[in-house]
Amino acid sequence: MKILSLETSCDETSAAVVENGKKVLGLSIASSLDLHKETGGVVPEVAAREHPLKVWPVIESALDQAKIGLKEIDAVASTTGPGLMPALLTGYLTAKTIAFFLDKPFIPVHHTFGHIYSNFLREAEIIFPIVVLTVSGGHNDLILIKDHFDFEILGRTQDDAAGEAFDKVARLLGLSYPGGPEISKKAEKGNLKEVNLPTPWMNETTDKLKWDRRNFNFSFSGLKSAVRRLVVAKIGEKGDLKDLDQSFVDNCAATFQNNLTEVLAEKAVAASKKYKAKELHLAGGVSANTYLRQKIMQKIKEQGSEVVFRFPEKFIYCTDNAAMIGSVAYFQFKNNIFPNISDVDSSLDLDLFQK
Ligand code: KG4
Ligand code: ZN
Repeated sequence: MKILSLETSCDETSAAVVENGKKVLGLSIASSLDLHKETGGVVPEVAAREHPLKVWPVIESALDQAKIGLKEIDAVASTTGPGLMPALLTGYLTAKTIAFFLDKPFIPVHHTFGHIYSNFLREAEIIFPIVVLTVSGGHNDLILIKDHFDFEILGRTQDDAAGEAFDKVARLLGLSYPGGPEISKKAEKGNLKEVNLPTPWMNETTDKLKWDRRNFNFSFSGLKSAVRRLVVAKIGEKGDLKDLDQSFVDNCAATFQNNLTEVLAEKAVAASKKYKAKELHLAGGVSANTYLRQKIMQKIKEQGSEVVFRFPEKFIYCTDNAAMIGSVAYFQFKNNIFPNISDVDSSLDLDLFQK
């Protein structure tokens, strides 16, 4: 089954043709990222205006790569939420219109499920139960997946998502958007012993054997504020970020990245152990972070766990892309799951889909 899928929830306009939820026959991504560098973050209206200009070219490119015409498509899918409302509308209306004219099913897809299924874009069979850590600019969830669409949310961020924290800390340090790649580049030159930042466990106890459901939550805004305090101590409230010493920036980046990924990795591995998961998946924009990947691998090894660790096979499957949407759509279709939404919903919550 070949599905044409669209993703336009934020600043990427993307189309893909995916076969049977696993094989990417064509994938095209046009990003308006450069427009957002000037503002240090995505301005919804600026992002939204780009989608109508790019949506048809990316569809044509995905079909060309797949070497098929529109008529050979079996279904059409798009992200219907969560995301920026005016941005979501372009993908949704385009996909629904194509489905209508082809007389094929339209499949609405939840963006977070998209990230979860980015790890299904591979030949290998995925074995349930899986624990998935989704870490993105907009979401940060630890989820137990017992079977397709049968899941339990174990924990989630109580404030900033991991990617959001990377972006905000990058801005505090005078680095450009998106902050994740910038911080990890700086962190390579940094020293972990030079600055003091908290490691936000959100535990009542430091005894790691006492994990409970509540402790699988995350909170990164305090860590971000701690970086802000260090910066203010250096240059004052209204100081010029250009005056920051580069070795200070490198050290802050290194310690921030280390402390944030320490919590993510520890909780993800602990959850996979507690729920006897066969596989542990890392997904979302921050899954591109190699330091985080290494930390998880190291903890799995240290704890003698046999869980299979997976992160998206290609870097382009980490950040927003339509291939992951095409994968979810296939498994929804196969399992006859058409979520109770037919319209876009920028605030769509994952809980809605829980059985
Ligand atoms: O999944 P995504 O493309 O969009 C959302 O759904 O939010 O994730 C974007 C986020 C940004 O916050 C960006 O800073 C972060 O992913 N990111 C990274 C890296 N690459 C992208 N964070 C840490 N390390 C990276 N290498
Ligand atoms: Zn995303």
